[in-house]
Amino acid sequence: DESPAGGTPPMPGASAPPMPPLFTHEFATDPYPAYAWLREHAPVHRTVLPSGVEAWLVTRYADAREVLADPRLSKNPVHHSEAAHGRGKVGIPGERSANLMTHLLNIDPPDHTRLRRLVSKAFTPRRVAAFEPRVRELADRLIGGFAERGHADLIHEFAFPLPIYAICDMLGVPAGDQDDFRDWAGMMIRHGGGPRGGVGRAVKRIRAYLAELIHRKRGDLGDDLISELIRASDHGEQLTENEAAAMAFILLFAGFETTVNLIGNGAYALLEHPAQRRLFQDAVAAGDTGLLRTAVEELLRYDGPVELATWRFATEPMTIGGQRVAPGDPVLVVLAAADRDPSRFADPDTLDLTRRDNPHLGYGHGIHYCLGAPLARLEGRIALSALFGSLPDLRLAVEPSALRRRGGLIMRGLRELPVEFGPVR
Ligand code: HEM
Repeated sequence: DESPAGGTPPMPGASAPPMPPLFTHEFATDPYPAYAWLREHAPVHRTVLPSGVEAWLVTRYADAREVLADPRLSKNPVHHSEAAHGRGKVGIPGERSANLMTHLLNIDPPDHTRLRRLVSKAFTPRRVAAFEPRVRELADRLIGGFAERGHADLIHEFAFPLPIYAICDMLGVPAGDQDDFRDWAGMMIRHGGGPRGGVGRAVKRIRAYLAELIHRKRGDLGDDLISELIRASDHGEQLTENEAAAMAFILLFAGFETTVNLIGNGAYALLEHPAQRRLFQDAVAAGDTGLLRTAVEELLRYDGPVELATWRFATEPMTIGGQRVAPGDPVLVVLAAADRDPSRFADPDTLDLTRRDNPHLGYGHGIHYCLGAPLARLEGRIALSALFGSLPDLRLAVEPSALRRRGGLIMRGLRELPVEFGPVR
């Protein structure tokens, strides 16, 4: 079926194959067949999420792009209707209690416009570009830590620590405190489960630490991102300490697990596609940054870190892809489905590192487009080229079917990635 987005969605007919189940173990391993079914037969589909919340899933590329930029959809959870709550609540566990709600992903204009302008002044492309040697050094140091051993878990020993140290450096967290951050981040990623669970405890500690750090830096501004956030003012308006803490928190929260998954999913995809992997390694050897850049974009499209964009809520009755949506209804854009839509991407299920026409939605679209995309691109390119450049015979140490995925609705990533390799170059 090729009915245009915005038309009447086709009803599953007698001849349509049955809908593959969502949110099962098989689905978590490979959700793409279920997403293909949804795109074709129920492109805007109401479902009950594992948390008990009911939400619309939007799976076609054209609809996804429209929804991501539609001002009638709010990011603020106050717009979530009670009817859609079911048994569950939305948001980052522990966040509510920790008073870090006023961050970019939870607010709308005009507050969003003001805060985003302020942080954009601090988080500049120049600052990110200047960071390249530091990321390279970090990647080499981490690889050096396991290179002699001949085996490693790439998630825990590489993909996980790299972005946490990188963002700590950028924020201006002193080197002596960065291992605490690494532990708290580990708690956030390992444990789920509500404000009193591990995530809640980690968020509380991060909040207390950030408040203290911001307070200290006010008296002694440096060249780091937190100092810039404190300095950033807009027509005389400054960030409050709470806004600055929320901002630092969202930079950590949005920039951490996403980048872990870019490196983890990216390394796994390369290991599973030998011809593409050879292309990648040749580009590393030749210093062909052009190919390395298109490669990272393609890895993001093919099996990106963010499976679903964060929550949006209808603020008025509206029609999405021919489907009526009521005020207060949560709408979830399935980025992973949109980025495999054959009406936008040629051979969408093929990993093609040379793909040039690749306007994927892996970083979102519209006013909430990923603020950290330049940093993520840099980290992805440097991390994967350091890895496959230094360990040219890198291979999986287990069968792919033995790999476990992390739970959670929004992100898509591996729990561990055991690899083996021969002597280091
Ligand atoms: C927003 C993806 C890395 C900071 C987003 C959104 C996506 C995304 C899809 C939009 C969510 C939505 O509209 O619901 C990614 C991916 C990353 C990555 C795939 C890594 C590969 C980072 C990094 C940082 C960061 C490294 C910062 C250090 C943010 C922030 C927002 C955001 C602050 C909110 C922007 C706003 O609401 O205005 N990201 N991200 N991200 N990202 Fe990223």
